[in-house]
Amino acid sequence: MKIFDTHAHYNNEAFDADRDELLSGLDAHGIGTIVNVGASIQSTRETLELTKRYPFLYGAAGVHPNETGELDEHWMEWLGQAAREEKILAVGEIGLDYHWDEPAPEVQKYWFVRQLALAREVKLPVIIHSRDAAKDTLDIIKSEQAKEMGGVIHCFSYGTDLAREYLKMGFYLGIGGVVTFGNAKKLKEVVKYAPLDQLVLETDCPYLSPEPNRGKRNSSLNLPYVAEHIAQLKGISTEEVISVTSRNAQRLYHLCF
Ligand code: NI
Repeated sequence: MKIFDTHAHYNNEAFDADRDELLSGLDAHGIGTIVNVGASIQSTRETLELTKRYPFLYGAAGVHPNETGELDEHWMEWLGQAAREEKILAVGEIGLDYHWDEPAPEVQKYWFVRQLALAREVKLPVIIHSRDAAKDTLDIIKSEQAKEMGGVIHCFSYGTDLAREYLKMGFYLGIGGVVTFGNAKKLKEVVKYAPLDQLVLETDCPYLSPEPNRGKRNSSLNLPYVAEHIAQLKGISTEEVISVTSRNAQRLYHLCF
């Protein structure tokens, strides 16, 4: 079974010099499927272009909480059309990020709710970005009944108590390079606690490269390190982690091969 990278940003300028070479070589390194995630109108547009160029690359359409200042009715309409494109598998990344309180929390919340409503309308799962906003994110997920759409909590950064809440609602947790960091005690606990059936692998590349490549540009080629680390924490084989998380990812994104 090949690796499924559930969250990448290959449109990022960090890949401008060698994007095609890198993407074309992934399959030979055991990386089977990529979901490239939009974080703004522009990156959603670039995601759509990438999905047309590479058969193994799918996309998500959405605006990251810190970029929601650019949204208005016109762009919501545009996003709705993008989300209906054939290779768009999710609405995301959407959510709340109070680490950078830009724009104001009320603005972030408004567009989070609107984009959840879009996901409901187009019947797609959601990719949730939540940073320093644990309570408000959970409140909105519950009040909007987002479990009916389902989805993934990307780059999960909270503790086991919150993990339990999301797991109960059927959400997947996205696990990436951070799990390999020596100081990521909380996340290691979460990975031990969560059922393997609800974990998916993600890079968030070009960011968050795992050990031993921490600090360098990340790509899907680093996912075996993440899988290995999860395997150690759970006391199972790396192959099992890869095959189960890949099947989870197919279920998450309603992708049947
Ligand atoms: Ni991301």
